[in-house]
Amino acid sequence: SDKPMTDSFGRRIDYVRLSITDRCNLRCHYCMAEHMEFLPKRELLTIEELAELGGLLIARGVRRIRLTGGEPLVRRGVLELAHQLGALREAGLKELTLTTNGTRLPGMAAELHAAGMRRINVSLDTLDAQRFTQITRGGKIEEVFAGIDAARAAGMHVKINMVAMKGINDHEFASMLAWAGERGCDLSLIETMPLGEVEGERSETYLPLAAARDVLEREFTLTPSLHRTGGPARYCEVSETDTRVGFITPLSANFCSSCNRVRITATGTIYGCLGHDQKIELRDLLRAGDGDALNNALDRLIASKPERHEFDIDKAEPAVVRHMSVTGG
Ligand code: GTP
Ligand code: 5AD
Ligand code: SF4
Repeated sequence: SDKPMTDSFGRRIDYVRLSITDRCNLRCHYCMAEHMEFLPKRELLTIEELAELGGLLIARGVRRIRLTGGEPLVRRGVLELAHQLGALREAGLKELTLTTNGTRLPGMAAELHAAGMRRINVSLDTLDAQRFTQITRGGKIEEVFAGIDAARAAGMHVKINMVAMKGINDHEFASMLAWAGERGCDLSLIETMPLGEVEGERSETYLPLAAARDVLEREFTLTPSLHRTGGPARYCEVSETDTRVGFITPLSANFCSSCNRVRITATGTIYGCLGHDQKIELRDLLRAGDGDALNNALDRLIASKPERHEFDIDKAEPAVVRHMSVTGG
């Protein structure tokens, strides 16, 4: 079937987050545990299977695909995949995007642009080299700076993703907004979500973004904007920088009623919600080449997509046991 996907709450699902690897060359402590067991490579969907899945999803009304990870750019074949997915614009895809830590962009940005990528999100939680190394457990901030420069030089719009963390980077919101603004980059601030066991208590670093906004408004003029990217951020125009700042507030201001998305892991497990275990395995159906069975599986997944997440930052146990690096957000 090629009917569009609408869930039981009337939400049209036209956006897919496609995680293409659970591995990453960094180890951000809010995203991964210190020791992670990664998926065996033989269990991953191949590049061909990922492209085929993309085609199938577009036939079902998907209009935006975002590649995620882990770090998507460490996956072998990612550029070929970008080209194959990019070609699906002829089949109705409107936007192919990427969320990356930026470190591999210097060698890849031009090719990603050539594949049709025009807008990418780069995670950068601090501008301080030492703090960056701490947060990422060993990363070098210069590599991210070089990646952002490369993406801009290739003609892509860059948005910086900054997870707001009390006591870690909460004195850097204004400097990050200014830094991003100087480069023509938008900035998204993100509330930390309880996915997977990590070291330390998430509740101790959780920061509701209303506080961040107050801090920014001491230095910048923020005007609520109707700008939408199809994601959960609510944006403000920043007069001083002529860029935008977005607020992603899963905990303090739930946005689930306008959810338009599902996510697929690198092994072909599709999850209806970031905050639930509800899922269906697509890989074997894909490998069997059974289009009807695949479409039925998608229908079942969408029909039972949860209404909303139940994240509770004060609970000792995370809402879901899998880490962010498995579903890519
Ligand atoms: P654009 O709006 O297209 O720029 O992308 P995005 O902000 O949706 O995607 P990105 O990968 O940059 O994710 C930014 C943050 O939003 C991450 O922390 C994601 O986990 C979070 N996020 C994305 N989609 C969802 C969602 O459906 N639910 C929740 N709770 N968080 C989400
Ligand atoms: N809560 C909120 N955002 C997270 N990210 C990773 N882990 C979490 C979490 N627990 C962010 C990354 C990246 C995006 C995909 O999600 O920083 O920018
Ligand atoms: Fe959608 Fe679930 Fe994210 Fe809410 S938490 S926006 S329902 S995926």
